Amino acid sequence: MKAWRIHEKGHYTQALALEDIPAPEPGPGEARIRVHAGTVNFADILLCNGSYQDRPPVPFTPGLETSGIVEAVGPGVDLELGDHIASMSALPAGGFAEQALVRAHAAVSFPRHVPFADVTILYSTYQTAHVALHHRGRLRAGEWLLVLAGASGVGSAAIQLGVAAGARVIATAGSPAKLDFCRKIGASHVIDHRREDVGQRLAEITEGHGIDVVFDPVGGQLTNIARRRLAWEGRHLVVGFAAGQIPDFPANHVLVKNYTVLGVHWSAYTRHDRATVDAAHRHILDLYERGQIRPVVARTVALGAVPQALSALENRDVIGRLVLVA
Ligand SMILES: NC(=O)c1ccc[n+]([C@@H]2O[C@H](COP(=O)([O-])OP(=O)(O)OC[C@H]3O[C@@H](n4cnc5c(N)ncnc54)[C@H](OP(=O)(O)O)[C@@H]3O)[C@@H](O)[C@H]2O)c1
Repeated sequence: MKAWRIHEKGHYTQALALEDIPAPEPGPGEARIRVHAGTVNFADILLCNGSYQDRPPVPFTPGLETSGIVEAVGPGVDLELGDHIASMSALPAGGFAEQALVRAHAAVSFPRHVPFADVTILYSTYQTAHVALHHRGRLRAGEWLLVLAGASGVGSAAIQLGVAAGARVIATAGSPAKLDFCRKIGASHVIDHRREDVGQRLAEITEGHGIDVVFDPVGGQLTNIARRRLAWEGRHLVVGFAAGQIPDFPANHVLVKNYTVLGVHWSAYTRHDRATVDAAHRHILDLYERGQIRPVVARTVALGAVPQALSALENRDVIGRLVLVA
């Protein structure tokens, strides 16, 4: 089978090589899938250069999450051959390949009529937004929801899930095209964080009420602005640090303004609280079948074009999710 491999960690442009290698054999708790579609994430760039939290030994195939059809299972796995699933990859045999190993405990099954490009996005992208907004953030209809990086993968899912929950959604993004996109998928107000005074606009839009729930995959300065605009008993969801700076929440500010800071580490739920993952999956599928959410495929890329896809991510030239179609 064909697979991208890293023999020496470094920038993906130098480190990735497309090779012909034997299909990997699943060990305990693992399944092998025929890859149909997988998301291409910024974290894969970090995996290639060795700065991601997981550091598999070389050689390895990147591609942190993927979807496809089960074709072999290891000991202790109750998935059926032929199941359509999405899951986290079992490194070193990641998803940038024709066949990949996945972790059975993190697998979620999908009905066969759902296209794999949607399957892969309805998995961790929507799961992260859903668990954040509902399980952690307790978002209620009529509340003000601020989605930072609204045109990102998880941000676009959060906008749609927020609208479906009856929230009033404000999104930030960094270009006119991204702002248009956020509006099209349901944000009632958009703010260009490169050109506008975000704090002032938030005060104007909410007429002084402030933001009830902040969905924050960005960090850095935008976090500081958003936390200052939190409403009474607001919730700030810490989802990621796309800006590269990890923010601080001074405890005196949390106390005086009576708000809550909530961490969201979705993949940990697959081990610690599978019931929450399953409940989110049922709700996500139901919203999808009723047309209330629509996964945004920025573009599909063939296996041979993985480096170009990573380059588009690095240049912030992506709206929604890039999907690898093997
Ligand atoms: N906690 C969890 O379980 C979980 C799960 C999935 C993802 N995440 C995290 O959530 C964040 C977003 O993930 P994603 O895959 O949805 O992101 P993505 O689609 O790659 O989009 C990232 C967005 O972040 C914004 N951004 C701000 N500063 C940036 C910078 N210095 N470099 C690049 N982008 C920057 C950009 O929006 P503008 O151009 O509009 O500014 C960009 O569109 C990441 O940090 C990821 O690790 C966390």
